[in-house]
Amino acid sequence: MSLPDGVSRHDFDGTTSIATRGHPEYGERTDGEWRRWDPHRSKLGAMLELGMETGLTADQTTLYLGAAAGTTVSHVADFGGPTYAVEFAPRPTRDLLDVAERRSNLFPLLKDARKPETYAHVVEPVDVLVQDVATRGQGRVATLNRQFLADDGYLLAAIKARSEDVTADPEDVFDEVLADIDAAYDVVATERLTPYHDDHLGVVARPER
Ligand SMILES: C[S@@+](CC[C@H](N)C(=O)[O-])C[C@H]1O[C@@H](n2cnc3c(N)ncnc32)[C@H](O)[C@@H]1O
Repeated sequence: MSLPDGVSRHDFDGTTSIATRGHPEYGERTDGEWRRWDPHRSKLGAMLELGMETGLTADQTTLYLGAAAGTTVSHVADFGGPTYAVEFAPRPTRDLLDVAERRSNLFPLLKDARKPETYAHVVEPVDVLVQDVATRGQGRVATLNRQFLADDGYLLAAIKARSEDVTADPEDVFDEVLADIDAAYDVVATERLTPYHDDHLGVVARPER
């Protein structure tokens, strides 16, 4: 597995895990300046822990959709460049603001990821689009936000089957969401995020040219 600079493996009381350097944010274990990136709490962390080739490198510009209280995006900002974090629920955004206060490269946006026109004036072209929105229409969110991605950038998405349809077979749901993503991207890798997250699919995709 190739890890970006600024992410490395550490031992936390007998558990070996990926980690970044930064202020602890969610009760994660620490080892000196390193903080555990808990794959059980983070789908992007699970994608890295499972060895998916994410293409992440240090200092990339990132647009993160579905930031919630900042658990995962805090790690992204620890090793990344300018990091725009979109979240539409006010309650978690309050916590996200605290996380951003401790990171000068993290910019929270209280916005709806289905309405990219409301933040298009703020967000510059990005190298990476990370998506973890628990909502119906996850494929459409990815295609709507394609506009922010540089041509050589890529999408890292965690698709939650139950957000689309709680009763359907997750594999059928993933096929449908991937068909939507296919409208604007070439999907290069997919992997189920078990054992860290049930009924989630990790997706790596490149913008279609
Ligand atoms: C699973 S949580 C994200 C967890 C977070 N990515 C992490 O790892 O720390 C999904 C988040 O997506 C947000 N969300 C759902 N639909 C959204 C939308 N249309 N625009 C922005 N945020 C959305 C929810 O409010 C929720 O906080």
